[in-house]
This record gives sequence, structure tokens and C-alpha cells, in this order.
Amino acid sequence: MKNKQWILKNFPVGDISEGDLVLEENEVSELLDDQVLIRNIYLSLDPANRGWMSGQKSYVDAMKTGDIMRGGTIGIIEESKNDKFKKGEIVNCMGGWQEYFISDGKGVRQIPQGTGFPLDSYMSVLGMTGLTAYFGLLDVTDPQQGETLVVSAAAGAVGSIVCQIGKIKGCKVVGIAGSDSKCEWLTRELGIDAAINYKTDNLRQRLKEECPDGIDIYFENVGGSITEAVLTRMNINGRISLCGLISVYNSKSLASGPAWGNLLVKRIKLKGFIVFDYFKRYMEAYLDLTKWMKEGKIQYKNHIIPDIENAGLAIKKLFSGENEGKLIIQVSENSTKN
Ligand SMILES: NC(=O)c1ccc[n+]([C@@H]2O[C@H](COP(=O)([O-])OP(=O)(O)OC[C@H]3O[C@@H](n4cnc5c(N)ncnc54)[C@H](OP(=O)(O)O)[C@@H]3O)[C@@H](O)[C@H]2O)c1
Repeated sequence: MKNKQWILKNFPVGDISEGDLVLEENEVSELLDDQVLIRNIYLSLDPANRGWMSGQKSYVDAMKTGDIMRGGTIGIIEESKNDKFKKGEIVNCMGGWQEYFISDGKGVRQIPQGTGFPLDSYMSVLGMTGLTAYFGLLDVTDPQQGETLVVSAAAGAVGSIVCQIGKIKGCKVVGIAGSDSKCEWLTRELGIDAAINYKTDNLRQRLKEECPDGIDIYFENVGGSITEAVLTRMNINGRISLCGLISVYNSKSLASGPAWGNLLVKRIKLKGFIVFDYFKRYMEAYLDLTKWMKEGKIQYKNHIIPDIENAGLAIKKLFSGENEGKLIIQVSENSTKN
């Protein structure tokens, strides 16, 4: 039996180009013991595919050139030599970009049948997409009634589910999407509070108008300039769910600014803080610091400049790097003993 398969031939540079993926036709091999033959019904195409094609290990092993393109699938068991699976069962797995997939059963999960939900919904809202939206919003950001939630790529697979869960949780939901029709769908059909077309609207201005009380939660799907615009309006104790960064997946060079991708794939939790929050715990720090200084474990340097008049020029040293240690203006003489 023939099997059409997409093979990764080159690691794309920038956008995926012709020739990076090549369709080949190969024979389906004979089933061995414990194997199942799955006929793929649905193949999920995901932004993540681009990352998997980069040849770099991230949260999954790197693909190699010559591999069948990796992809999530829903399929039917055509033949089984594995006790755990029966012919005719519908399964979900990483069956790849191909017609048939032979598996030893690892990572293959049966999909319930007769539920009344269309099979393709198990590839989206009842599959990885829904799971991403559900936990990415609820577990990561703990949305509360009345909070303002902004979602980028809001009309997309994940984003649209996030928007709706946000509404269910009583949030004010503002979506960012790339066309008027998507924005209309979000507001008219999904009932979110506002949608901004980032391609034609002044995003910063619209965020100001639509989020007058600031943004409590940002569900990040995109990265880049959209993130920057959103960050300026985040509220104190806001939360960001760093789900994806699609705007940079095709970049040929590293984007300027922090490497958000590292935070994402390494599941880093990021929390801002302001020293004021710790004033009430000052003594804890004071006792340790003075002890360490006495023990010679901590040194410090002060860069003291006389006269208040010099303050205006002195401040520039902080930005030119001319300060050596803590920059201080000596406004008047120190007559104390310590
Ligand atoms: N962390 C996880 O486990 C996980 C799991 C699944 C998905 N994800 C991430 O979730 C995000 C959405 O994935 P999805 O599968 O639901 O795809 P999707 O949102 O259905 O499709 C991607 C959308 O991204 C928008 N987009 C593309 N390039 C853009 C750019 N340069 N600037 C702004 N928007 C851009 C486009 O919508 P517009 O028309 O609005 O531009 C496009 O429709 C992706 O970043 C993906 O990597 C993460």
C-alpha cells in the first residue's frame, strides 16, 4: 500500500519555502507485533510546526531533515497487532503529515465515539487547542470577575476559545485580530466586549479607549509590537499567559528585546516586583546584610559628587555609565560619626 508523506528536506530560513517540505510516496510496511496501522483522518497544522522545522531542540526533540513532517492527527485504526487497540477505533496521536501511520501505541489515545460532537472538534476545541486555551487562561492567570482580559490572535483557534472562557469567567474581554471580519465575528458572534484590528487601527490608542481601567490579564499568542503596546497598559499584579509568539516564528534573526521564547519553552514564571512591597520586611534584610558586611562578604562602592548644583549633570552619568558605584550627591557636610 502506498503512503503519501511530507518529508522535511531543509530547515527553512525565514518563511517556509518551496522545497523545504517535499511530498513523497512510499510503501506502507508490514505490521509487526504490538503495532497498529492508523489511517490519518485529520492532521492538525499548528504554528508550532514552524518551530519543529527549525532543527533545534526545544520542548520536543528536534526534527531532522529526511523526517516525516511532525503533526498531530486523528485517525482510524485499520489494523491492530496491539492488544490495547481494536480495528475501527478512532484515535488521536502524532501521526505526522502522511496518509498512514504505523505506531507501537505509545502516545495514541482513543477518542470517545457517539458523543454527538463532530470528530473534527476533537482536533480543536475538544483537543489540544481547547486544552491550551483552558489551562493557559484558567491555570496560568486565574481570571476574576470584572477583570480586563486582552487576547492576541483572538480570532484564532486558541484565542477564540480563550476569549469565550474569559467571558464565562466574567471578564471584560478585548481581542486583537488582523481583519475587520475577524473583529466582527469576535464581537457579534462570540460576544466579546471589543475587538481591535491591529493592522488598521492605532493599537495603542484603541487599547487606551477599550481598556480604560488598564489590563489585568494578557493572553499572549503573538509577541513583537503587539506585546509592547499591551504591556504599557498592564495593571499592577497583572498576569500574562505566554502561550505563543507567532510573529517571530519566521524571523531570520533574533528579535530585539528579551528572548520571550526561552520563557515560553522553559515554562518560566515571570513576576514583577517593586521594592516598596518589601519595606515591611526591612529588618530581615538589614540583619543579614550587616552580618555579611562584618564578615567581609559584602563590599560596596559609592560615587559621591559634591554640591546639589551638580545633580543635573551628574544624573547623566547613570546613562553614560560614568558612575562608579552608587551615585550620590553630597548636598552638605556629613557631621555624624557613622
Ligand atoms: N503553549 C502551547 O502549548 C501552545 C499550544 C497551542 C498553540 N500555541 C500558540 O498559540 C498561538 C495561536 O495558535 P493557534 O493554533 O490558535 O493558531 P491561530 O491563532 O488559529 O492562527 C494563527 C494566527 O496568528 C495571527 N498572526 C500570524 N502572524 C501574526 C503576526 N505577525 N502578528 C500578529 N498576529 C499574527 C493570525 O491571525 P490575525 O489575522 O489576527 O493576524 C493567524 O490567524 C500560536 O502562537 C501558537 O504557537 C501554544
